[in-house]
Amino acid sequence: MSEFTFLAGDAHWWRQAVIYQIYPRSFADSNGDGIGDLKGIISRVPYLKQLGVDAVWMSPFYPSALADGGYDVDDYRDIDPRIGTLAEFDELIDALHANGMRLIADIVPNHSGSGHKWFQEALKAAPGSPERDRYIFRDGKGENGEIRPSELASHFGPTAWTRITEPDGTPGQWYMHLFASEQPDWNWDNEEVRADFRKTVKFWCDRGVDGFRVDVAHALVKDLSNGHLPERQSYDVSVMKNDGTDDLFDRDEVHKIYASWREIFNEYNPPRMAVAEAWVHSNRLPAYASEKGLGQSFSFDMLGAGWDAQRVHELAANALQRAKDNGSSNTWVLSNHDIIRHATRFGVDGQFDAGKWFKANRFNPKVNVKQGLERATAMTALLLALPGSTYLYQGEELGLQEAMEIPDELMQDPQFFRNPDLGLSRDGCRVPLPWVANHKWFGFGEGGSHLPQPEWYKNYAVDVEDADPNSTLNLYRKAIGLRKGLETAEELTWIKHWFSKTILHFKRPNGWHSITNFGTKPVKLPKGRVLLSTLPLVGGKLPANATAWVQA
Ligand code: NOJ
Repeated sequence: MSEFTFLAGDAHWWRQAVIYQIYPRSFADSNGDGIGDLKGIISRVPYLKQLGVDAVWMSPFYPSALADGGYDVDDYRDIDPRIGTLAEFDELIDALHANGMRLIADIVPNHSGSGHKWFQEALKAAPGSPERDRYIFRDGKGENGEIRPSELASHFGPTAWTRITEPDGTPGQWYMHLFASEQPDWNWDNEEVRADFRKTVKFWCDRGVDGFRVDVAHALVKDLSNGHLPERQSYDVSVMKNDGTDDLFDRDEVHKIYASWREIFNEYNPPRMAVAEAWVHSNRLPAYASEKGLGQSFSFDMLGAGWDAQRVHELAANALQRAKDNGSSNTWVLSNHDIIRHATRFGVDGQFDAGKWFKANRFNPKVNVKQGLERATAMTALLLALPGSTYLYQGEELGLQEAMEIPDELMQDPQFFRNPDLGLSRDGCRVPLPWVANHKWFGFGEGGSHLPQPEWYKNYAVDVEDADPNSTLNLYRKAIGLRKGLETAEELTWIKHWFSKTILHFKRPNGWHSITNFGTKPVKLPKGRVLLSTLPLVGGKLPANATAWVQA
């Protein structure tokens, strides 16, 4: 391709968009190697178009040793050859743009993969060298440096320090990794690192990428000054300071980095967008979502909301207020590649504790599948009716449940291996999609599937759901299509039902009502035309576990 294509139009397209997350290795495999690829995605562009999404967010597609599903990036400006080529990437952008969809790339700035050229150079260089300064190397404690520099824990467990062997063969320094040992943390105090990321951002913007999802956006800048090294559990928001002075996360200085990226984003027309994955105290989220910074940040509040009208109301109202105060738009998320699918979570009563539930249900999952799917689609419809952008995760449009039956030896998630006490794996939501029920590998590809697909996947295959007017897929298509036609100002009015605490009802400025029944008895709908109901109405009323949209 000689010219990159751009999708012109609204600079604020991302404020109220439906964005579909693709986990590239598990979406569609064109060459039969068992790993999804860019050509596979290109072949499914018509599917995405029919689904009606505004944009696709692609999880990492860069060269990687896959120690953490591609979040261990060995080269930020290339494509993993198992996934494709830069020319195919251009082809994908063209195909999406030609069909009115945008592309958001995942950028992973907190750490690289250990195969990254600069990390390999650091290993070969001497302690104190400029090569080592791009990462976080420290001497160990003890007589021979054999004790790790601090008791900092990795998010995946156990320790955040790994000792290297120096080029002369002797045991040497230690390097810090907040995640797996194959994911060394960058030293963001190093100007070369900053400049290289600006180069990466520009590289993908020039190629026509419409935006970025920024991985662990709150972790880049750390205070390790004067020999100080944090001794704690990493990544836990409850132990994180909420005033920008935490040693490890969410330091005020991180926003300088994003301001410099924003300058680059604004050189393009329309300006590129970005969304932060920042697990921080909610009072700190607005800074990431500011228009001087990334512009949007994921709000993960709904993940813990459960099936509780009042809680959902409170979280939604707070998130919307925060976004309004900040001039940003809110984001809604129920599933992604890191969490147990929401159709499964809602099939379990009570407070959902992923770690405990996984351990107890590993080989005999106790899930009320019907309830799970009903509540999941009701919640999705509710979120789709709220102002802001909704991020969907591949397979949720099929109503997929978590695949629990992956044997230990086929697991890939480093968290599963590094933290045996928890034993929690994210692989169950990363199993390749079922496209065709009666085909090998359910139409994912002709040569196997890098994670095993359970037999029951065939019931959720795209061809089956496509043919069924009442399927989850057709419900998603309808909801997303309707939503497009209903788009209106980013406002809403909550409508109180004094007689019930289990109804969540709001109205958008154009008279679009959304009403969700969290209770057990059918409820009356507001007057107007019923546009959508996630379950059939019962005598004109909305049954339990359902959402309806009504145009007044
Ligand atoms: C967040 C990503 O979503 C997750 O998959 C990854 O393991 C960590 N960041 C580390 O990159």
